Amino acid sequence: MDVPETRERPTPVPGPGPYPAAPPLPRGPLETERLVLRPWQEEDIPAVHQICQDPDIQRWTTIPTPYEVGDAEWFVREFTPKGFADGDEATFAAVVKATGQIAGAIGIGGIAKHTEGRGVRTAEIGYWANPETRGRGYVTEAVREVVRWGFEELRLERVTWQAFEGNTASRRVVEKVGFTVVGLQRGSHEHRGRRVDMWLADVLPGELR
Ligand SMILES: CC(C)(COP(=O)(O)OP(=O)(O)OC[C@H]1O[C@@H](n2cnc3c(N)ncnc32)[C@H](O)[C@@H]1OP(=O)(O)O)[C@@H](O)C(=O)NCCC(=O)NCCS
Repeated sequence: MDVPETRERPTPVPGPGPYPAAPPLPRGPLETERLVLRPWQEEDIPAVHQICQDPDIQRWTTIPTPYEVGDAEWFVREFTPKGFADGDEATFAAVVKATGQIAGAIGIGGIAKHTEGRGVRTAEIGYWANPETRGRGYVTEAVREVVRWGFEELRLERVTWQAFEGNTASRRVVEKVGFTVVGLQRGSHEHRGRRVDMWLADVLPGELR
């Protein structure tokens, strides 16, 4: 569908935050057959910077573009530790056990934001993959484990996924692990100056596979 271009809008009204204080999240590590999922570390900064040059990551996610070293430093030193400390977002590095290579980033977050007002503990999954290790099922394996951990350890009751319409690779990942695509949110987000439609999917405990 055609969605209107970005228009002049009034200044947003401040939201209801701050959200209720939440205890810090456990930091893993989690483990799958082929991967270790652990918090990001200082020595990952060059790899994050390199991986995020990938045109698909720039197209389908909201990372800054151009993506500078300072953006990777902020991600590793500030954004991801704060997410764990605030109890709102756990973002793991998925590392291939056999090689030590970073396969991708898997985050489960917005826990306080999404739960507030709904009465249902909800979080959203998000990820990107190292282009050098794509197509081997690593991200699928990691997403399955992080969502399992979310249900069992964080006591989540629902996990959602959103992607810009047309991101079929990302959609395939969540469908493989048991999410159901429940709809298209029309013109719901702004992405790099354009209004875009977003697919929405969710998974409930017991549906993960
Ligand atoms: C989405 C992404 C993480 C997938 O990484 P990956 O390494 O290919 O993931 P996996 O190997 O675990 O599985 C990908 C699945 O999608 C399929 N796939 C890959 N590219 C596809 C495409 N263009 N169209 C349809 N399916 C596609 C693969 O065949 C595989 O499914 P299969 O096992 O049934 O064959 C990766 O493409 C990426 O980083 N994209 C840019 C960032 C992004 O889109 N993040 C998600 C934002 S919501």
